[in-house]
Amino acid sequence: MPVVAAALAAVLLPWLWKALVHLVWRPASTGRRTGSSWATPYRGDRRDAAAASGESLDRGSHDTTTRVMPYVRAWTSLYGKVFLWWSGPRPVLNVGDYDMVKRILSDKSGLYVKPDPGPSIMAMLGNGLIFSEGDVWARHRRVVHPAFAMDKLKMMTGTFEASAREVIIGAWEARVEAAATTKEATVEVGEQFTELTADVISHTAFGSSYRQGKEVFMAQRELQFMAMASMNKVHVPGLEYVPTKNNVRRWQLQRKARGTLMAIIEERLAAAKEAKGYGTDLLGLMLEANNAGDGGQRVMSMDEIIDECKTFFFAGHDTTAHLLTWAMFLLGTHPEWQQRLREEVLRECGGAGTPLHGDALNKLKLVTMVLYETLRLYGAVNVMGRQATADADICGVKVPKGTALSIPFVMLHRDVEVWGPDANEFNTLRFQDGVGSAAAHPNALLAFSLGPRSCIGQGFAMLEAKTTLVLILRRFEFEVAPEYVHAPADFLTLQPQHGLPVVLKLL
Ligand code: HEM
Repeated sequence: MPVVAAALAAVLLPWLWKALVHLVWRPASTGRRTGSSWATPYRGDRRDAAAASGESLDRGSHDTTTRVMPYVRAWTSLYGKVFLWWSGPRPVLNVGDYDMVKRILSDKSGLYVKPDPGPSIMAMLGNGLIFSEGDVWARHRRVVHPAFAMDKLKMMTGTFEASAREVIIGAWEARVEAAATTKEATVEVGEQFTELTADVISHTAFGSSYRQGKEVFMAQRELQFMAMASMNKVHVPGLEYVPTKNNVRRWQLQRKARGTLMAIIEERLAAAKEAKGYGTDLLGLMLEANNAGDGGQRVMSMDEIIDECKTFFFAGHDTTAHLLTWAMFLLGTHPEWQQRLREEVLRECGGAGTPLHGDALNKLKLVTMVLYETLRLYGAVNVMGRQATADADICGVKVPKGTALSIPFVMLHRDVEVWGPDANEFNTLRFQDGVGSAAAHPNALLAFSLGPRSCIGQGFAMLEAKTTLVLILRRFEFEVAPEYVHAPADFLTLQPQHGLPVVLKLL
């Protein structure tokens, strides 16, 4: 009997010790070292709190924190802008202070890295820009960067315009014209903008091969839904290799995406060999920069290029669709601003038939201001994560190695000390002297993040959104439909939970 007890103890003790360290000692020690109260909340799953606040908002209320981050909101009023909380045994530092945020996001030394996104997202995106780190990230960013230069983006205006005319304007005109007596139609615009941004990214990334590109993106979209569905499930190590129904489908989609992208890229490389060039779309520009390494060496491998193509779709598709959706919401509930924008559009870009130019779009000051205010109140990313790779001191707060850092953009964008007492109001005029002068902190608008890892596609997204809004404002007058329920929800990105129905009238 004593032998059995000894054997059991030998097996269980290391296990118990590990649990003690993880669940008691580490939380207590981290709490002491950061100077945070040991009494800060210890909790398991933040979705419980979010689900608890299911009520919709008044459509004049822009305080989305009550819906998407009720727990951080409550703790901020109790503990201040910077406090520690626990996700199971993991310490998470809430960083609601702008100076600390700037320090973290501007870091170039690798002290703060992105958290592990989990196997399903990694399997979907591989080593693309979003999740790579260190030298791999720097090498990729060098190759991808030229494709997003402003002169190249301006050349894409025609593509943005053609897609918006086909997917949005044509479809909406047909809907209104079909309503013979009322001459108005109610359209759920969120889905339509998602279709538009998929079309735009397929055309701008792959030019003449856009049909194959769109097939890849459809496969990616299904993979994205599968990844999202698996995100909240417990990860059983090794399960990703078992041929379950889901895994078999995932492998099929991954094979399809890779095979099609490989064929498109090989076609481009063959065309370049025959001196026909790589093409002027995002893929072509990226391949051109890729061949400009020392001595004509390729900087990225074929697989890395494939990962970047998938990344464009993942990063640039839903985000831009939601920007357009929320801008329509704000303009549809503020008719005076809708009219002011329309007047500016007609003055700078001409009437409905006039083709658009990148230079005219750059003169649209009011449109830009409304887009910035939309990004402040309804930015796609609510919270951004980082992780300390070593012990650090962030503006006087001691952060032990391994601490997760949670940067709540949605709270920071409503900080009254930085944005003023009307931080929760729609006040476009705060941006009239430019984005850097809109608040008490020069980098207060964080929707595209800041520092070396800021969004590479921000110019692309703004130009696409402006082009689409110009075409809509020239052709339609609109208001948010009476049946709309204002329920912003965080499904990886911020979106209206029940869609956005809008009543359209032809001008
Ligand atoms: C309104 C639209 C968009 C918003 C709000 C947005 C937001 C962001 C944010 C917050 C980040 C930083 C993520 C982090 O550090 O964890 C980011 C990174 C990134 N975005 Fe965007 N994005 C938008 C559109 C686009 C578009 C259109 C593209 C490409 C076609 C794009 C490509 C990327 C890439 C590749 C990164 C990673 C950059 C790096 O780490 O070097 N985004 N975006």
